[in-house]
Amino acid sequence: MRDSAGVPQSHAIYPGSFDPPTNGHLDVIARAAAIFPIVTVAVVVNPQKRSPFFNLEEREEMLRRCTSQYANVRVDRFRGLLADFVKRTDADVIVKGLRVVSDFENEMAFAHMNRSLSNVDTMFLMSDSSYSFVSSSLIKEVFLQGGDIAKYVPDVVLEYMNQKSHARPAS
Ligand code: PNS
Repeated sequence: MRDSAGVPQSHAIYPGSFDPPTNGHLDVIARAAAIFPIVTVAVVVNPQKRSPFFNLEEREEMLRRCTSQYANVRVDRFRGLLADFVKRTDADVIVKGLRVVSDFENEMAFAHMNRSLSNVDTMFLMSDSSYSFVSSSLIKEVFLQGGDIAKYVPDVVLEYMNQKSHARPAS
């Protein structure tokens, strides 16, 4: 991507399910926003995860509220291949967060595939080590069993989680 003067402006895509966004995700977004002139947080419309906790609109809304302090961060959604979205949005780089070494095993194959499909590289940012065990799926599990998740998600997300739990019939 180039600005109006033709100067290259790196546009980074940070893709994910964000169901829900965690403090680990927000840490990666903050790091990406400090490096790249434009960062798009891209929520996948993921057909593999058939019953998400939050619908797309809710995930986008939470992300928008959690990232409103960054003038260079926007939130979007995509369906289908990430590589196609990257090409369509004229992005220069994919950003992924790494928590632990084992994350890298899968991510390396994704990075190669995405580069092969779109010619766009993936850059990995390590989230703070204090988030190394924080994942959306673990947050949901702890929350649904009545555990305290306040330390692991932004306040906005906690609000949404609490609203959801009140809206759900007890079983
Ligand atoms: O937060 P997640 O669920 O770990 O994010 C996974 C995501 C969205 C990055 C990955 O599933 C993805 O890229 N999905 C889009 C479909 C695609 O491009 N698949 C081929 C990957 S090489």
